[in-house]
Amino acid sequence: MKDQAWQLRELVPAYELFPKSDIPLKAKRIAVTSGKGGVGKTTVAINMGIILAAEGIKTLIIDGDVNLSNVPILTGTAPEFHFADVLQRRVSLMEIIYPFKNDLFILPSGLGTMDLVDQEEKFIDYMRREFMELDEIFDVILIDTASGISSLVLGEIFSADEVFVVTTPEPSAIGDAYAIVKVLTFFMPGLSVRLLFNWVKNEKQGKESFAKFNGITEKFLGREVRYLGALPFDENVRKAAMSQMPQCIQYPRSKFSRGLKQIMVNLIDSKNELMYEINVRKN
Ligand SMILES: Nc1ncnc2c1ncn2[C@@H]1O[C@H](COP(=O)(O)OP(=O)(O)OP(=O)(O)O)[C@@H](O)[C@H]1O
Ligand SMILES: [Mg+2]
Repeated sequence: MKDQAWQLRELVPAYELFPKSDIPLKAKRIAVTSGKGGVGKTTVAINMGIILAAEGIKTLIIDGDVNLSNVPILTGTAPEFHFADVLQRRVSLMEIIYPFKNDLFILPSGLGTMDLVDQEEKFIDYMRREFMELDEIFDVILIDTASGISSLVLGEIFSADEVFVVTTPEPSAIGDAYAIVKVLTFFMPGLSVRLLFNWVKNEKQGKESFAKFNGITEKFLGREVRYLGALPFDENVRKAAMSQMPQCIQYPRSKFSRGLKQIMVNLIDSKNELMYEINVRKN
């Protein structure tokens, strides 16, 4: 019988899906993931991008969801090319990136991303060079991952410097968030993980849910996760999705937008190591 570690190893792709350089470059790569689907990853990633860009932080959102590819839909944009076109050598990676708003750009990797797992070494070298260029251009790269725990999702998370795990206070979402933290602890014990509670009744519910979660990870995984914050249920979020115009643009004063702005302001705070270098460069 296969042991758990063996089964986990089977999940892992041979390399990072979006190759990192050995040379430390400027972009901070953040993967937004969740385990469970439909908890708000894409909504959070897009609106985080809008807030960062409004602060003059040049941001790229990588749409890492192969099947659903929701970033173009939720931003009301229609990409001309996809990642599949890069894989088929029709265009370069740079050519598929398009601007959304001010300092915010989108890489519509969606279709064909999974095929990257099977690419030969020569192509991976090419991708590494292309991503090096991206890391030089952008301050922050947000990777909106697919849901679940697959080699695709792990390949995307392995490409990041930091992970934001989005969950709701619902037990099934928390169970899936725990599963992803467990897998990450196995493969990347040093990777910093922050938890974001979406769809909460109030801040208190977010903090209490986090305290329970962290208690369990400390006890069973021997690791701490950090609290990124909590976002309320807000009916405007669905309205924004329906009109394909992100919440923070359409309803900047809504509960959700103000909550996320506060979280991002705290993060951009110069004392925060994730954003520290970006701030130093900006000021
Ligand atoms: N705080 C919130 N209040 C109300 N609705 C929300 C909130 N956050 C997300 N939603 C809604 O929940 C649904 C799922 O959101 P979203 O697509 O961002 O989740 P996801 O985790 O990216 O899903 P998937 O796993 O399918 O990629 C959308 O209809 C979105 O508008
Ligand atoms: Mg999504």
